[in-house]
Amino acid sequence: MPGSAPPLHIWSDDETVGFGFDDEAEPLVVSWRWIRDNSRDATSFDASTRQRIVDTFTLDPRQPAGDVTIDGDHVRVSWPDDTADSLLPITLLREVSGRGPGVDYALWHTAEAAEMSPLPYDAVVRSEDGRAEWLHDISRFGVGLISGAPPETSSVNALVARIGYVRQTIFGGTWTLAAGLTEHADSAYNTDTLEPHTDGTYSHDAPGLQLFVCAERTGDGGESVIVDGFAAADHLRVHDPSAFHTLTTVPVPAHYIEHGVHLRAQRPTIRLDDMGNLLQITFNNYDRAPFALAPGDMDEWYRAYGAFHELIADRSRWWSTYLTPGDALIIDNWRCLHGRMAFTGTRVFHGCYLNHEDFEGAIRVNATAIGTM
Ligand SMILES: [Fe+2]
Repeated sequence: MPGSAPPLHIWSDDETVGFGFDDEAEPLVVSWRWIRDNSRDATSFDASTRQRIVDTFTLDPRQPAGDVTIDGDHVRVSWPDDTADSLLPITLLREVSGRGPGVDYALWHTAEAAEMSPLPYDAVVRSEDGRAEWLHDISRFGVGLISGAPPETSSVNALVARIGYVRQTIFGGTWTLAAGLTEHADSAYNTDTLEPHTDGTYSHDAPGLQLFVCAERTGDGGESVIVDGFAAADHLRVHDPSAFHTLTTVPVPAHYIEHGVHLRAQRPTIRLDDMGNLLQITFNNYDRAPFALAPGDMDEWYRAYGAFHELIADRSRWWSTYLTPGDALIIDNWRCLHGRMAFTGTRVFHGCYLNHEDFEGAIRVNATAIGTM
């Protein structure tokens, strides 16, 4: 937004230039070479492809200092050698310093706090406003609920196309989930209660989202259960920092083994980004593979893992819903855990996985945040 950049304080010396923002957080301090490398002027950056064209590797590590001024919503740096001025959008400097648009999520510790209501299928599939509202729900709550979907696989494809594309896994692209299917040896295909878990703990890149469209439903039980894993992790961060530290640092292996398949991956139960923000929950005690730490560390890990389990097994944290034909549910598998109550009768879903990066991209486009980086 031209002209809307907040005040910026600038200082410099022979080695570096600093940018201070009107907040309490650390300023951004960079070298003069960094300015050249990240400039958005036409000799350094191709605005049509948004790709760097400056030759990073020939830049002088002791690039002489320039003259810095604010030029509208950019910082302009004029160089003593009369080469093209460097230009850096102030929004770019803010984003690099960790002040970019944050994730707009609302932690929910109880089902009531999730404030979700179903969106009409036709609006999500056919209107940009409906699509935006759906994406907004998923990013805020980690869950999106839709009603009025044709109870068939075509609905899965139509909904996925509003975010990205179907992800292929050992379960195929789009799949059908029903009790009694024997194609895969997994607890998802029986009628027992499934404790809240995330899918793909055994995958280096766990499925980002999981989409279900209910096709058939008779009988009792079988409610879908969702828990906000970020809310549980945040609770631990505040109330049990030792457990939080353990769960963010100890990699836990998981595996999926059936005829001809042996997948294995490991990562901490709570994964943080390099700014310390919650990035991904990985929790599936059914698929956890054996691992060993020194006995004292193992005891502490069991305690921490149990503390997290206690939170996600707490039914006051469960958002549960009895899906009927035409209902569609999408879950952010990097944030929320899902489970299912035991059931009788028929319960058939069509569904698929999506990649998390495609969802993140859709959110950025939706927020028209593309541009500076
Ligand atoms: Fe699952």
